[in-house]
Amino acid sequence: MNTFSKIGFILAVAGSAVGLGNAWKFPTMVGTNGGSAFVLLFILLTLCVGFIMFLCELYIGKTSGLDPVGAYYKLAPSNKKAWSLVGFSMIGALLIVSFYSVIIGWIVYYLYHSLMALFNFTSLNVDINENAKLFVNLLEKNVTAEIICFSIVFFLAFWVVSRGIKNGIEKLNVIMMPTLFVLLLLMLCYSFTQNGFADAFKFLFKPDFSKITSSSFLEALGLACFSLSIGAGSIITYSASLPEKTNFISSTFYIIFINLLIGLMMGLIVFSFIFEFNADPSAQGPGLIFISLISLFAKLGFLGKILAITFFIALFFAGITSAVSMIEPFVFFLINKFNMKRIKAIILLGILVYILGLMCIFSTISDTKDSLTFFGMGFFDILDYLSSNIIMPFGSFMAAIFVGYFLSCKDLYKTFYPYTGDLGFKVWYFFARFVAPLAVIIIVYFKFKG
Ligand code: PFF
Repeated sequence: MNTFSKIGFILAVAGSAVGLGNAWKFPTMVGTNGGSAFVLLFILLTLCVGFIMFLCELYIGKTSGLDPVGAYYKLAPSNKKAWSLVGFSMIGALLIVSFYSVIIGWIVYYLYHSLMALFNFTSLNVDINENAKLFVNLLEKNVTAEIICFSIVFFLAFWVVSRGIKNGIEKLNVIMMPTLFVLLLLMLCYSFTQNGFADAFKFLFKPDFSKITSSSFLEALGLACFSLSIGAGSIITYSASLPEKTNFISSTFYIIFINLLIGLMMGLIVFSFIFEFNADPSAQGPGLIFISLISLFAKLGFLGKILAITFFIALFFAGITSAVSMIEPFVFFLINKFNMKRIKAIILLGILVYILGLMCIFSTISDTKDSLTFFGMGFFDILDYLSSNIIMPFGSFMAAIFVGYFLSCKDLYKTFYPYTGDLGFKVWYFFARFVAPLAVIIIVYFKFKG
């Protein structure tokens, strides 16, 4: 049977969860939302909402053993066709992987740049304006570099998925996840020796509730969903290959713990550098990683180059293990539904994702930008917006409603009871029926309200 091993499952799902969300969105959002109080909110929402919906999706995948569309179809007690449409929220994962691979491509570019600097073919710049120029130049002018780097990521990710669950996805995660952890640990040890570490620690862990606004509440909830990969079919798909008799509750705790831990480690590393050199912790988006951090690494000379290489390898590993989890759901669907060969499914989806990825690249290039702007938004941002703000919240909301209101409570109890006990089940069921769906309704309402 092509299922994960127990540890393979934990690492693969943790690999899906730990990604650019932790490396980039988390530190950026913490930075712009005033730090520690946001971290607390994020942890709270991860546990009260993300964790709950994660278990709903895991149950759907585990009991059906199918792709998201097939799973809803098989389990729905009535209106099977309508429910199977919910499974198509996995399209969100395809949209994400298109722009996500472009971002991993930037990481490849900076990895190359740092390697070249190590061998003195080029240098890392201390001047933040020069680094901003380099980044803007990459996005607006350097089509060739962007396409090459995107293509490397694209081929690697699709190649891994073409090798299947056990020989491709599990192997990749079993190698990359522990390595990622070790690399981050090394960087954390280095950050610990810096003066900025204490400030970073305070910034992340000493709560200041005056900084919390209604919008940070909503951002934290969105980040919790994105970070746990829920609502886009990845968790359902991976759970379909869950080995029999796995304690899926403790596995989920491990996954959530790893995801939080790596997010916090990333945060500590990034902010130690930021505070060490008095940079701005609220710099937006790519600015934090591709501009500020490069200047800070440059100040450290040779050691800085090594740190930059380590950091970008870690980001690359985090990104690629998430990217493969976005491709597998649709591949699995094509295989199940149309009896398609894995390789044929990969080629079909590959063509689609490659075209979407190229459109993302051209939507930032100055000459082509305008023709790829719709309703005042670039194609890149549209994909991000559609997937993170609409499809994923919808997918996770429907998973909770489906499990909470349409599946048999008795069957759920039978599956959960051995691992949760009676009270644990009741608490989870209450949260799945009421708390989690309500939280998603609030997030979407406020997002649309503006
Ligand atoms: N959880 C990933 C991250 O934090 O970067 C992103 C992600 C993976 C989103 C898989 C959606 C998905 F299906």
